Amino acid sequence: MSTRPVRIAAAVRLTLLEVLRRAAGYLESHGSTSPRLDAEILLAHALGVRRLDLYLQFDRPLVDSELAAYRQLCAARGRGQPVAYLVGRREFMKLEFGVTPDVLVPNPDTEVLVERAVAWARPRGEVRVADVGTGSGCIAVAVATYVPEATVWASDIDARALAVAERNVRAHGLEGRVHLVRGDLLEPLPGQFDLICANLPYVAEGTPLPPEVLAQPRQALFAPDRGTALVRRLLAQAPARLAARGAVLVEIDPGQADSFDLAGYAGHRFHHDLGGRVRVLEAWIG
Ligand SMILES: C[S@@+](CC[C@H](N)C(=O)[O-])C[C@H]1O[C@@H](n2cnc3c(N)ncnc32)[C@H](O)[C@@H]1O
Repeated sequence: MSTRPVRIAAAVRLTLLEVLRRAAGYLESHGSTSPRLDAEILLAHALGVRRLDLYLQFDRPLVDSELAAYRQLCAARGRGQPVAYLVGRREFMKLEFGVTPDVLVPNPDTEVLVERAVAWARPRGEVRVADVGTGSGCIAVAVATYVPEATVWASDIDARALAVAERNVRAHGLEGRVHLVRGDLLEPLPGQFDLICANLPYVAEGTPLPPEVLAQPRQALFAPDRGTALVRRLLAQAPARLAARGAVLVEIDPGQADSFDLAGYAGHRFHHDLGGRVRVLEAWIG
């Protein structure tokens, strides 16, 4: 991988379109799997405009200060910083979330879990939902947004993550229905729940990961016992905390589908992600 500085402009003033083209080439050569999209999001951020507005300005030349800001962002992306950290936000379930390096970047795979949670909870009316390992609060906020009668209790072991979640809960005006508590799994959450959701760390220690994943907090990624320890513990605790006919929805690694003891449940099934891999375990009690 080249360590030369980002060369996205020469002495002549380049148009926005040409700058984008060069930046996308640079990002691709530095490992981005979505170089053009990354280049556009970062340029929109550097210019303080919406991404769609770039398309209306393709022929405009960039001034030096704009280029300098953009170069810095591209260089950081080239070093493996996630785009979401560089721009400070990420869209998830068509909602915007503030993100910092203290939280996992909300992932499209997790939308499978939220879509199932919303489909499960909405017809049931006034439900109590738990979100264990809330991170940015993306699951808790999305469920509360799309299930207007739900009350959500969310936990995280990490105070810095909870501070990010708190800002997101406030930004979405959900302080009255999403409650954040610090502690281990279900332990700090009061009462019984109709639905328990969780996207806990499930990566096995030592798994080789790309730099943009490794830039995210360790305690949001890795779990002992080949990645299964936290999900195992949650699945063991959950039946005692579920109301009658309650259910658990847990995001898992596709390779872990057969790793869990579900003897405490009346039944279970799996949901698949956009790539067709097993991604969410749903288990329910009678
Ligand atoms: C994979 S991240 C998921 C964040 C968010 N739910 C999402 O889907 O983007 C896992 C989160 O679980 C938290 N966590 C790790 N161990 C935990 C535990 N024992 N109890 C509660 N939260 C925990 C981490 O701090 C991290 O914020």
